[in-house]
Amino acid sequence: MSSKSISHVSIIMDGNGRWANQKNMPRVHGHRQGIKSINKIVSACSVRQISQLTLFAFSSENWKRPEYEVQFLLKLFEDSINQYINDLDSNNVKIHFIGDLDIFGKKLLDNIKNAEQITKNNTGLKLNFALNYGGKWDIINAFNKMIDNNSSLQRKKISIDDFEKYLSLSADSPDLLIRTAGEQRLSNFMLWQHAYTELYFTDCLWPDFDEKELDMAIQHYQNTTRKYGSLSKENVLSKKNAK
Ligand code: IPE
Ligand code: IPE
Ligand code: MG
Repeated sequence: MSSKSISHVSIIMDGNGRWANQKNMPRVHGHRQGIKSINKIVSACSVRQISQLTLFAFSSENWKRPEYEVQFLLKLFEDSINQYINDLDSNNVKIHFIGDLDIFGKKLLDNIKNAEQITKNNTGLKLNFALNYGGKWDIINAFNKMIDNNSSLQRKKISIDDFEKYLSLSADSPDLLIRTAGEQRLSNFMLWQHAYTELYFTDCLWPDFDEKELDMAIQHYQNTTRKYGSLSKENVLSKKNAK
């Protein structure tokens, strides 16, 4: 459907709690419903030939939530990976997790590793889940990894390209970031990688987000002009004409 290429979409899946509140249900019901939206959007991205989808599922700040909600979310991730891994695999989806994962318990970690292992040779949609992820963590983690890999670092000037290799998803910046549920902030999501991403905010709550909403976001992207600090084609042409 797209005229301008869109290869990588990232999503801040927000509004599960509000969705449940509106229905006088406990917040965790919204999280359960949110998994259904993930399913829908993963399939929709495959159909639309988007090559990569990165979903913000749990931030490094989300530990501040009540213990019950945090534990519910971790168990939900654990169970959902198990439940959907075969479907995702048969749809040729390649799963990858980013974030500070070592903190998780053995069961969740095993499921994470298993999902990555099973799908590692798949060639379809690359699906990244950001879990216990923070953009500041990513940058400092990259910095530490770079120091570990370079003993003679103090004499060398590090370039942006050198440094970027150590970040999650390296130089694979999203083309389009979608944030649901009205808030217009990054909430510490891929601070480096979103430097030139087109941003799309919608009031739609994540459990209500569907193919139609995705197409509206893609349409928004289609209407943007990516300039990266230079001039748009039209401007270059009109400058030439003015000579
Ligand atoms: C997003 O929904 C899910 C996570 C952050 C894990 P929220 O739980 O933040 O929903 P709201 O923002 O309270 O409605
Ligand atoms: C961002 O949503 C994190 C995820 C969607 C995983 P939050 O609901 O945690 O963000 P804030 O607190 O509104 O910034
Ligand atoms: Mg929220």
